This record gives sequence, C-alpha cells and structure tokens, in this order.
Amino acid sequence: MNIWLAPLHGITNYLFRNTLCRHFAGIDFMVTPFLPVQEKSKLNVKNWKDIWPKNNTLHPIIPQLMGNQPAHFVDTMNVLHDTYGYEAFNWNIGCPVAQVVHRKRGCGIMPYADRVEEVVKTVCAQTSYRFSIKMRLGLHHPDEGMRILERLNEYPLDFIVIHPRLGEQMYEGTPDWDTFDAFYSLSRHKIIYSGDLFSVEDYQTLQQRYPNIEDWMLGRGLLRNPFLAEEIKGLPTGNQSSRFSKYYQLWVEELRASRGDLGTLHNLKELWHYYRYLCHLDDTELRHLLRINTLDDFLPESLGYIDDL
Ligand SMILES: Cc1cc2nc3c(=O)[nH]c(=O)nc-3n(C[C@H](O)[C@H](O)[C@H](O)COP(=O)(O)O)c2cc1C
Repeated sequence: MNIWLAPLHGITNYLFRNTLCRHFAGIDFMVTPFLPVQEKSKLNVKNWKDIWPKNNTLHPIIPQLMGNQPAHFVDTMNVLHDTYGYEAFNWNIGCPVAQVVHRKRGCGIMPYADRVEEVVKTVCAQTSYRFSIKMRLGLHHPDEGMRILERLNEYPLDFIVIHPRLGEQMYEGTPDWDTFDAFYSLSRHKIIYSGDLFSVEDYQTLQQRYPNIEDWMLGRGLLRNPFLAEEIKGLPTGNQSSRFSKYYQLWVEELRASRGDLGTLHNLKELWHYYRYLCHLDDTELRHLLRINTLDDFLPESLGYIDDL
C-alpha cells in the first residue's frame, strides 16, 4: 500500500513537506497545494517557489493545478515541464472555497461535466504528461461526480483522488461512504481515497471495506498525528515525545527564518488546532495556548504539553 500526503493549501508548502520528511517515515507520494494555470504569456513560474526542484530534493512531488481553460492547462504544463522537468500533474476539481467555486474552479466546475471533459480531452490529446484528478462527490449532488467519472473512463488518466463529500459540505459531517461505493464501482481508474483518516482504526475499517484500494491519502490526520503514516504501516515510532519535540523545534526555526516571529506565531496557532489531539489538550488549554503572544512561550520546554505523548 502507498500513503500520500494530501495537499493542504496554506499548510503543506515545501518547508512543511521537507521538515515532515526529515522526521517521519511512511509517506510515499506528495501532491502540492494548487497553483493557478494561465496562458503562456501570463505565466511567471519562476515565482512558484513551492515547486522549485531545489526546494524539493528530499521527496518527489506532483504539482497540483487549478483552472478551467483547456489551453491554459497545456501551456502551464509545457512551461513547467520545460522549466523544471515535471512530467506528472494533478488537477484540483474539489476545492470548496466560495471564491474559487464562484469562478467555476475547484469544485465549482463539477456541475459542468462537458468542461471537465474538454480539459481532460485537450490535455490527453496535446500532451503526453501523466495527468490525474482530485475531486469530491460533486458540488451540490453526487450525480455531478457520477457524470464526470463516466466521462473520465474514456481517458488515460494516471489516477483519481476522491474525497467523499460534496463541496457544499465543506469539511463538515461524515464522508458519504455509500456514494463513494458507487463511485468506486463506476470508475475504471486507480482510485486514491482521501478523507477523515485520523487513526489506524479508521484506516483498517476502510481498508476492509475497500480491499482493492492500495493508495491512501492523509491530510488533517497527519497534521493531528505526524506518526500516523508510520503507525498505519506498522513501523516503530520510538520515543514520540522526543521525536515530536525535535520536529516541532525545527519547524519553529524554519518558520522563523522564512516568516519572522509574527508569521511564525500565526502558523503555530493554526497548527495547534491539530496538534491538540496528539498532545491531548482540552478546550480550555487550547484557548489558553491561542492567547499566547510571544514566540518563546511556544517552544516545547515552555509549553510542556509535548513531554508525555
Ligand atoms: C486547510 C485545507 C487546505 C486544503 N487545500 C487543498 C488543496 O490545495 N488541494 C486539494 O486538492 N485539496 C485541498 N484540501 C483537501 C485535502 O487535500 C483533503 O482532500 C481533505 O482535507 C480530506 O482529507 P483529510 O480528512 O485527510 O484532511 C485542503 C483541505 C484543508 C482542510
């Protein structure tokens, strides 16, 4: 089985990915957060630090793209191939954020199966790159996703990642596994499962339900517990307090160097919404932590929460 790191926009950038794989094992593949496709004359990929090869030497990545114009995909892929050598790309048609959806991008394109097919058809006809898709069940209704999957069966995609929620659900409620069953049976492509894998038990339950799925994508579960990929693979996790503490310390240093103290504080507060699970913080403790305004108080020795994981 393979474990994938999910793209999490604003979180799993190259600094995060590199720090993560310096400290934790078990992750086989990584998809980057999305980048906007453009026509060739408007592209400035030199600014796309997140996918500079020199920033991604520790682990191969698949750049994720977002857009809805077939020609823009071809232009962007060609430029990324010629500039950086990338040969595989993923298309995000699952992002549920309102500003994205309103522009018929991300999940906002899912009601328009014709346009989805047009993009895939153009990419497959005009390029020889490996192309994959990351999708939800639909924006408003699973029929949208079913229609898209039927059409995608006609094209040689690399794989399809499915997060079994509708766009309008955002990340709320439980995933709809019954509908995912239907999607899984309909698609002739390799399916990668993404959604709510927070523990080894979650993985085992879904693995029993879908014994033919070999690829599992971890997002928020890996943020909550960076040992999760190792645990799922049955690798020894050793002294978790000392390993997490070293990881956290290095992450603070990386952040400080790239974002300054204020940016680091902001990022750490966001991450503690996830780390609270590993460190067993209750609501009061989390509230207290989120009120801290000096970086020194966020270091492992000051926090104390990391001592007995
Ligand atoms: C903060 C955040 C940012 C995300 N950014 C992206 C993104 O850039 N591209 C994408 O395809 N999915 C994105 N997702 C969706 C995740 O990749 C994943 O499919 C989803 O969170 C469900 O998996 P999980 O429960 O393991 O997190 C994002 C999710 C979150 C919570």
